[in-house]
Amino acid sequence: MPTRASSVAEPNLILAGFMGTGKSALGRQLAYRWQRPFFDTDDLIEKLAGMSVADIFAQHGEEHFRALERKVIEELIPPSGAIIACGGGLVVPPGMAELVRSKGVVITLFASVDTIIRRTTNKSHRPLLKGDDPEVKIRDLMKKREQAYMKAGIAVYTDGRSLQQLCVIVGRVYQREVALLKKASTKSKAKGD
Ligand code: S3P
Repeated sequence: MPTRASSVAEPNLILAGFMGTGKSALGRQLAYRWQRPFFDTDDLIEKLAGMSVADIFAQHGEEHFRALERKVIEELIPPSGAIIACGGGLVVPPGMAELVRSKGVVITLFASVDTIIRRTTNKSHRPLLKGDDPEVKIRDLMKKREQAYMKAGIAVYTDGRSLQQLCVIVGRVYQREVALLKKASTKSKAKGD
């Protein structure tokens, strides 16, 4: 597993995925285990805007929120060494999956609709799920976003897995990707690129 000493030059680990797939909980736990800084894009946006995500949606609309998400990824996250949990829709707009991938190793968490419903019901900071039938909204959004999630990162399924198990699985996937990146960079240096 990564250690504090090695974390400085290590690529960021970026967690993407639908609301309620456990990005923030897993990101915090990994940051604690690996002794790395943790950032949640929703928190960064709230600090930047000086208001809650729900208020940004209500007062300025979703497009403005998406522009803030882009700004956070372009300007506010560190270049390496951190663990970052993305808001559920961050990787969806055109160009965002590529942008996020240029900032680190991206892993997309997936969960079943039932799990997502259980984890997201009555959470006021999720304005997109407000209304009479969150299940229909979840299914609809999930369908629209699935391709973007697959394109953004390596898929990890979270259903039936504990936080501990997910730390191990995600840690392995991350290490494998880091090793591949290092190998690719050594090869291109040897070629004089
Ligand atoms: C959103 C997900 C939320 C938050 C905002 C929009 C989305 O983050 O960014 O409500 O579009 O899926 P979480 O995935 O952390 O709930």
